[in-house]
Amino acid sequence: MPQCDSPENAAQRSVISGTAITPFMTLACPLDGSVLHKSANVWRCEAGHSFDIARQGYANLLPVQHKRSADPGDSKTMVAARQRFLAAGHYQPVADAACRLVLQNSTAALPLSCLDAGCGEGYYLRALAEATRGRQRLALMGLDISKWAVLAAAKQEKCATWVVGSNANLPVQTSTLDRLLCMFGFPVYHEFARVLKPGGLLLKVDAGSNHLRELREIIYPTLKPDRIEEAPVPDGFTHFSSETVRYSLRLNDRQQIADLLAMTPHLYRANAEGREKLAARESLTVSVDVRLTCLVRSPC
Ligand SMILES: C[S@@+](CC[C@H](N)C(=O)[O-])C[C@H]1O[C@@H](n2cnc3c(N)ncnc32)[C@H](O)[C@@H]1O
Ligand SMILES: [Zn+2]
Repeated sequence: MPQCDSPENAAQRSVISGTAITPFMTLACPLDGSVLHKSANVWRCEAGHSFDIARQGYANLLPVQHKRSADPGDSKTMVAARQRFLAAGHYQPVADAACRLVLQNSTAALPLSCLDAGCGEGYYLRALAEATRGRQRLALMGLDISKWAVLAAAKQEKCATWVVGSNANLPVQTSTLDRLLCMFGFPVYHEFARVLKPGGLLLKVDAGSNHLRELREIIYPTLKPDRIEEAPVPDGFTHFSSETVRYSLRLNDRQQIADLLAMTPHLYRANAEGREKLAARESLTVSVDVRLTCLVRSPC
């Protein structure tokens, strides 16, 4: 059993020892920013806004007025495809590198708080919980704008706080986090800077120029030229490190190939002809080329 700090365990320990308060024992109201307290199955703020915790263990902290569509983020089908694909271990080297970077310079004596912003079905937080196994106490929170993703995540891992929410308005108090993950996601840097402690680490993971090249060569008539330059360092951060994980991945059946397509934006960008060409393939070898960038929150 991974040694992760559920908010309840952390709360109990803090009562006993007077320490070990973790940021996810209280959150921030998505409507007015005031402190959200958890009691029984409800998160409630001082102004009286309340958000139920579903029986699967997640809360919806995305107010209707912040939604741009009725069912934002990844669909149920995309989430199921990603879950099958990741469960097969195809991105294990990416998870290993992410865990190593998140855990660098951490102090085992203190719980390490980590928010995965755009967590999908929770693969990377589960990997982190697994990777620490009694060596490091963790306080984990996963947030995604897709209720299907958060539902799938909450069903698989009870040792974390799971919320439906937006990176544009994180329901987390200011300067409280040690680590923030943004894996193949949609960074909102000023919000990430707000919630990280000074010295806290943002790990951003993005597709490199060769990522899934062979799949793209099948579905598109031509490929866009590669972007060579590094993205500028956003305000409020300093660059700490960058590294690349590269390997070749062999997919041996149609379902795995279809799942890979369904978990990427290429599902919608490819035309019908491109998708048919890919669907005819019984096997595929693709390049994985992933860039991991660590940025440190500057002192305020
Ligand atoms: C490419 S998926 C990556 C999921 C997960 N990080 C992983 O690598 O398995 C991008 C995720 O971002 C979510 N997303 C899109 N817009 C978002 C937003 N504004 N705030 C939070 N999550 C968002 C989607 O629902 C989707 O789950
Ligand atoms: Zn409120």
